[in-house]
Amino acid sequence: MRKKFLKLIKAGLSLAMLVNIAFAQSAGETTFKNTCAACHTVGMGKLIGPDLANVDKRQSEAWLIKFIKSSQSVIKSGDKYADSIFKAFNQVTMPDQASLTDAQIKEVLEYIKSKSPAVTASSSTSTESTSETTSATTSNGDASRGRDLFVGKLRFSNNGPTCNSCHNVDMEGVISGGALAKDLTQAYSRLGEEGVKGVISGLPFPQMKQSYEKSPIMEQEIADIVAFLKETDKQASAKSTASVGSTMLIGGIIGVIVLLVLFSIFWIKRKSRTVNYSIYERQIKST
Ligand code: HEC
Ligand code: HEC
Repeated sequence: MRKKFLKLIKAGLSLAMLVNIAFAQSAGETTFKNTCAACHTVGMGKLIGPDLANVDKRQSEAWLIKFIKSSQSVIKSGDKYADSIFKAFNQVTMPDQASLTDAQIKEVLEYIKSKSPAVTASSSTSTESTSETTSATTSNGDASRGRDLFVGKLRFSNNGPTCNSCHNVDMEGVISGGALAKDLTQAYSRLGEEGVKGVISGLPFPQMKQSYEKSPIMEQEIADIVAFLKETDKQASAKSTASVGSTMLIGGIIGVIVLLVLFSIFWIKRKSRTVNYSIYERQIKST
């Protein structure tokens, strides 16, 4: 009886240890998926931030921990490398991960390392499948529904707040939005399709996470908003060239009018006292 009991305890213990190891590994993975994956991949190319494959070979662990906790303070300290990646990634600020402990960050780095070497062989297929699903959902996106969702004419199915309570977008017929967060008129060309999608679905920014964590935005709604932002981007680019064209046209018209006025003034002066007229007057006077 006692022996059986001991056996059971032993079995239980080893099971617990196994679970513990598995858990230690997946903790890094879970943290990565929850807090980093919206902006980073490991070996599948860049999203909003750089591909983190083999990042441990680029920088020391101490540097990485400091950067992950507060990237901006590393950049502001004059670190050339940090500054250059900040500029290379369109000066998108990586949110501080102050809530992560050093141990948790080490777990994440461990996970990144474990995913790094195997990358080249296995990543190509998964990259394909993600890009496929993305393009499929985007082609389903309806820009005008996206606009209505963005400004709140249409409610999100889970009742999340409207995007324009924090973000502005410059587009004709769209009410201007809040200035709490970045203007999104050209977010599409700044972040790319994957990037915009990643932000809306992954919620890497704390303010957005707070707004949508408990009322997630549906797949279709994301596709619609991405389609809308694609359109505002296109329109903004078209507008800036169009406005250059129209100022040139208006400038041209004004120039012509000014010239005509100047010409007519000179003309009138000349006509009112022609050479012939003064000769004629002189002759009359002399006779
Ligand atoms: C909102 C998007 C975003 C999130 C979320 C994010 N990052 Fe970043 N990350 C960036 C950007 C953008 C850069 C490029 C540098 C910059 O712009 O500051 C970067 C750079 C880095 C770098 C330096 C990469 C290199 O090539 O040297 C590391 C390491 C990193 N991030 C790790 C993480 C980890 C770990 C997490 C999760 C705990 C995370 N990031 C979450 C956007 C993000
Ligand atoms: C509670 C306020 C809030 C709401 C609501 C909100 N956002 Fe954000 N969003 C932010 C903040 C803060 C950032 C971080 C960058 C910044 O400071 O602008 C951000 C960043 C972004 C970015 C990345 C911008 C860039 O170029 O770095 C995108 C894209 C974005 N939001 C899209 C949306 C969309 C789409 C919605 C509606 C579904 C939305 N947001 C709703 C606050 C909000």
